[in-house]
Amino acid sequence: MFTSILKDKVILITGGNGLIGKHIVQGAKSSGATVVNVDIGNRHNEENGELNFDITTESGIQQLIDTVMSKYGRIDGLVNNAYPRTADWGNKVEDIKFESWQKNIDLQMNSIFLLCQKTLDIMKAQNSGSIVNIASIYGVVGNDFTLYEEYGGTSPAAYAAIKGGLINLTRYLASYYGKYNIRLNCVSPGGVLDEKQQKASFIENYSKKSPLKRLANPEEIAPSVIFLLSDLASYITGHNLMVDGGWTAI
Ligand SMILES: NC(=O)c1ccc[n+]([C@@H]2O[C@H](COP(=O)([O-])OP(=O)(O)OC[C@H]3O[C@@H](n4cnc5c(N)ncnc54)[C@H](O)[C@@H]3O)[C@@H](O)[C@H]2O)c1
Repeated sequence: MFTSILKDKVILITGGNGLIGKHIVQGAKSSGATVVNVDIGNRHNEENGELNFDITTESGIQQLIDTVMSKYGRIDGLVNNAYPRTADWGNKVEDIKFESWQKNIDLQMNSIFLLCQKTLDIMKAQNSGSIVNIASIYGVVGNDFTLYEEYGGTSPAAYAAIKGGLINLTRYLASYYGKYNIRLNCVSPGGVLDEKQQKASFIENYSKKSPLKRLANPEEIAPSVIFLLSDLASYITGHNLMVDGGWTAI
């Protein structure tokens, strides 16, 4: 992607098999990184950096860290991109069961805190590192629910809480760990085209509202992530980079 800007760096990417994650993995590899992709859908293969651990459990996170450290001895970059969620994700507010709300906060928010905490210990000892958390436009602005009328589900309330919280947790940790030469940033995508999941009416209505008049293509998120992981972004920390076609500019 950007020839050699991640050369000699060990980069850990969660959810690297997904719509956005697979392009982050490809982008990091083509920028020279040694990539570890941890995804619950992986066939576990430590040799080629494809790991199958559940990043929502303390034991899965610890096994992940131990595996990476015993093979590579360092972590230069972490991308929190995985998207675990419950089967009823997408319910409207009135229908959300409290246990489901709690579970999603646990799966998507608490797990990121724990993975960051353990990775930051390693980065602190190295006196270097970069973490990129994948947030969303819906961590920054509210939703236009007319877009979801024919969607068969909505963008859930917990998503707003999780992504908004993640953006400010990133600022907190950026401030706390800056003195150890560790940077933390967010990338916040807008809607990403996924023709298998999205109805034509949603694509049309979203596109009409977006300044660039379309959704993002899945490969358009990765370049910002690669940049923030790299030393080209050496003076950028605590930032939330919107990759949203102008959605939050209007
Ligand atoms: N798709 C969008 O329109 C969009 C927009 C804004 C932000 N985002 C954010 O981008 C990130 C990626 O989204 P996506 O659409 O590519 O998701 P996706 O569902 O396509 O991919 C997520 C990946 O995470 C993996 N995963 C799920 N649970 C896991 C677990 N417990 N342990 C390890 N891996 C696990 C899945 O196997 C999958 O490969 C998410 O944080 C999401 O909130 C997506």
